Amino acid sequence: MRHTKWKAASRAAIALTGAGALAAGMALFMTAPAAAGTTLGASAAEKGRYFGTAVAAGRLSDSNYTTILNREFNSVTPENEMKIDATEPQQGRFSYGAAEQIVNHARSRGMSVRGHTLAWHSQQPSWMQGMSGSALRSAMLNHVTQVATHFRGQVVAWDVVNEAFADGSSGARRDSNLQRTGNDWIEAAFRAADAADPNAKLCYNDYNTDNWTHAKTQAVYNMVRDFKSRGVPIDCVGFQSHFNNDSPYVSNYRTTLSSFAALGVDVQITELDIQGAPANTYRSVVEDCLAVARCNGITVWGIRDSDSWRSSQTPLLFNSSGQKKAAYDAVLAALNNGTTPTDPPTDPPTDPPTDPPTNPPGQGGCTATVSVNQWTGGFVATVRVTAGSSAINGWTVTIGLPSGATVTSVWNANRSGSSGTTTWTNVAYNGQVGAGQSTEYGFQANGTAAASAPPARRADGPSAVRGGPERRAPANGASPERPDAASRRCG
Ligand code: G3I
Repeated sequence: MRHTKWKAASRAAIALTGAGALAAGMALFMTAPAAAGTTLGASAAEKGRYFGTAVAAGRLSDSNYTTILNREFNSVTPENEMKIDATEPQQGRFSYGAAEQIVNHARSRGMSVRGHTLAWHSQQPSWMQGMSGSALRSAMLNHVTQVATHFRGQVVAWDVVNEAFADGSSGARRDSNLQRTGNDWIEAAFRAADAADPNAKLCYNDYNTDNWTHAKTQAVYNMVRDFKSRGVPIDCVGFQSHFNNDSPYVSNYRTTLSSFAALGVDVQITELDIQGAPANTYRSVVEDCLAVARCNGITVWGIRDSDSWRSSQTPLLFNSSGQKKAAYDAVLAALNNGTTPTDPPTDPPTDPPTDPPTNPPGQGGCTATVSVNQWTGGFVATVRVTAGSSAINGWTVTIGLPSGATVTSVWNANRSGSSGTTTWTNVAYNGQVGAGQSTEYGFQANGTAAASAPPARRADGPSAVRGGPERRAPANGASPERPDAASRRCG
């Protein structure tokens, strides 16, 4: 059943990509932009996305709150009402009243519902907190089954497992009573949710997973990659994205979103709030999501500042009176592809996230483009390999690294060489790329990648026999300044 649903999701992603390409092409001939949406939900929908908010059942009697909710949002996540302590306060006795109040409010107005959350170390009812071992494992799986079954057909995406990884540099699982039931507890929860609701998208959700260089991000990435390779039914990854002075937005956020998406999952921004609500940062987050075809929605964690779990940080889009803040205008403009308004920069300047293609499409071959996120002493490069007019079955990219740059880690590719001329080939699961489709791989390196842009140029001939002799681009095509897709071979 999940296989069938997954195919449908893939078709949707392709359709979105196609629509985006068409819109970009049409823009060349249009003299005036299309009419912009006037609410967050409508504008996101124009881009094939949703724009949602966390909702507290207790606030649905506040007309100021519901006026904004009903006007602006087309997706809803119950803030606390679907958590384990709310839905199963006593073992085997389920309580859905507050959650249903939110679900009914949303669905009767055409809003979709994200379910949050089925398995979590926190907000467990006291009966569960005291359990361990096989009894806890069974109780957890029963909870997942019962709740997902109850809301089957009403919840489009579930945060099946929430916050299962530790903070810091360990890259380890978070210690919890659930973790102590065995390392396979996460995939067991996903399989139970899949059996209960085969049509819901099943997400892993976490915080502090926004920075691509962080160990926690890499650990979650490796788990998702492992799940995909073993057929564990996971469809999406939620990035909570609670940004603040201790955990700020970073310019490699787009790399994080696109890298996860390249694993074959949707990505969703699930609990967005930003300390002080800087308009520039909110705009960047929206632009990052829109730049990733499989980023299919954004949820802010509350409507007004007074509704926020961090209300003193005034991190939301509406002030406590319900008036739109500058961040609201920036988000709406970004959703509408606008460029204004902005507030003075509050974030460090970032590298352009995507460089122009270095190779024009080959005839039946492929092209490679490189985007770079640089910080002092290191960088992450994301390489997008796009098939030409024919599908390819295996690819090779050669990249000339500037002097002093050394590769330290790689994902989604095999590597030959760590400095100077480096050669990259597909791994087992991303060699087949359909005509016009893309896959991404990436690497992290010490040193400096970007100083100035090299001229775009044509790579050498289209397809060569896989495993045949290496062919290099003309020497004058290599950039001494930054990684450059210097040649490619697909076949
Ligand atoms: O409803 C009771 C109220 O009756 C009581 O008087 C009061 C006394 O403290 O507590 C109220 O419950 C609080 C509840 O929020 C509703 O306001 C809980 O104490 C409080 O712990 C709970 O906090 C929630 C928190 O999760 C719990 O972990 C926040 O609202 C909610 O925004 C927050 O959401 C989490 C996501 O689920 C996961 N990601 C992080 C995010 C922020 O912590």
